[in-house]
Amino acid sequence: MNCLSPSILAADISRLGEEIKCIDEAGAHYVHIDIMDGHFVPTISFGAPLMKSIRGLTERVFDVHLMVKEPARLVKEMVACGADIITVHAESCVHLDRTIDKIKERGAKASVALNPATDLSCLEYILPKLDMVLLMTVNPGYGGQKYIPYATQKIRNLRQMIEERELDIDIEVDGGINLYNVQEVLNAGANIIVAGSAVFRGDKVANVEEFLKVMR
Ligand code: DX5
Ligand code: ZN
Repeated sequence: MNCLSPSILAADISRLGEEIKCIDEAGAHYVHIDIMDGHFVPTISFGAPLMKSIRGLTERVFDVHLMVKEPARLVKEMVACGADIITVHAESCVHLDRTIDKIKERGAKASVALNPATDLSCLEYILPKLDMVLLMTVNPGYGGQKYIPYATQKIRNLRQMIEERELDIDIEVDGGINLYNVQEVLNAGANIIVAGSAVFRGDKVANVEEFLKVMR
């Protein structure tokens, strides 16, 4: 199934509750929550207190993207704050396998993110344990960047890798996705679409509806 996961990094944080209700009512399936620690990526975004405060506003899936060093230490807290899917970066985990186990033991769905330049080969052994793979289509750390064109071939290669192994794994793409290139990533094999600026800039409801039309 194709799902839209608007990234609240691009929302008006002073009116975050209304922003979330708006994308929920417009039909977005997930809420993408970017947690940044100022170490793994240069910026700091938000953390557990914010997640807790918005959890009661929507039943939508909380799709939590941890851009932090050694994310294993946050797993318990993230699940307690209502995370449904937890994505950790392969580049930020010394013990990736153990971190994935920790997420699954807590009852959340487990996902691994790869930076644009990270090779798919690092998924070779861990792939069967995953519910989702997040392919970064920009360098993580900021919203509003341009899609990196070579990511399209990487999406195709990952979809092929999943099919060859007869696995059922979602491919999420994150960064620079808009109404002009979403068809390209869908054709390549992505099925979970993160969009920050392309949803929250301008008319949010119309933007979500346009995405959903293309994704149907
Ligand atoms: C980037 C974040 C993204 C970001 C996407 O590090 O992981 O989720 O919010 O924003 P856009 O869609 O504006 O590129
Ligand atoms: Zn993200």
